[in-house]
Amino acid sequence: MIIGGSSSQDLASKVANELGVKCGKLEVRRFPDGEKYLRVLDEVKDQNVVVIQSTHHTPDELLFEYLLLVDTLKDLGAERVVGFFPYFAYARQDERFKPGEALSFKTVSDLIESVGTDEIYTIDMHGHRLVKLSDVFKIPARNLTAVPLLADYVKKTYSMEKPLVIGPDAEAEQWARVAAERLGTDYDVFEKKRFGDRQVEVRPRKASAKDREILIVDDIISTGGTIVEALKVLFAQGARTVNVACTHPILAGDALAKIREAGAKNVIGTDTVPGPISYVSVAPLIAEQVRKAGLSGAS
Ligand code: R5P
Repeated sequence: MIIGGSSSQDLASKVANELGVKCGKLEVRRFPDGEKYLRVLDEVKDQNVVVIQSTHHTPDELLFEYLLLVDTLKDLGAERVVGFFPYFAYARQDERFKPGEALSFKTVSDLIESVGTDEIYTIDMHGHRLVKLSDVFKIPARNLTAVPLLADYVKKTYSMEKPLVIGPDAEAEQWARVAAERLGTDYDVFEKKRFGDRQVEVRPRKASAKDREILIVDDIISTGGTIVEALKVLFAQGARTVNVACTHPILAGDALAKIREAGAKNVIGTDTVPGPISYVSVAPLIAEQVRKAGLSGAS
């Protein structure tokens, strides 16, 4: 059975449709005092359940809902509960950058395990300093990538002439490389320095954008600061056109408007964070993984 939390209802029904399995239902509401009420409306005893919950925009609330849900499923006798976090919040605070800071990533992963999650999957999780998810989780944990789906969409939808793929910072190399391989073209990454939540500076390395069509690929667009700076560099170098693709279109505030004003031709993302540019669904990626893990009964 697939169950979508409040943030991922549409995605969960798409995954259930792909697999031809039941999409379980929940009742979620608030008590008058603001506390959350959650009720599982299906029989889950002895079932394998995949819970899909992206933790974007209101991460604390959605994480808490996940904890209530998985604890309840286990208590009701679910056999195996797999947590699927298409967007996993708090991954960026995996280190104590200043003395006294919370190690949020560790706290969140401990909580997810504590309610009985048997296995966890994420998609393009922002684990800059993290080599393997198993360094944080004790349960089986796997990070998947949506970049091949984004690259296929770009190939099918935009006629780009051997585009140069650009990752806007060193960490984006993993995504730029995959996109470039899929598109049969070359890639490079910029160097990025962050000066605050909203201020970044990017500098080019080897490749030149002169007279090239460009595809920028990144994991997250949050404030849009990174992409806007990358666009400035690319146009200054003489890029012909620039399209932008990301897995998680968080699009805080006026991020999308800023990116369009800076000259991006098309901006696309996936439905890990549903919104105005979620043109690509990660449902096939999740469904494939559920099949591979032998959870759906489908092969
Ligand atoms: C950080 O290094 C990530 O890969 C993204 O580049 C970053 O989160 C984007 O944030 P923003 O849109 O606020 O610049």
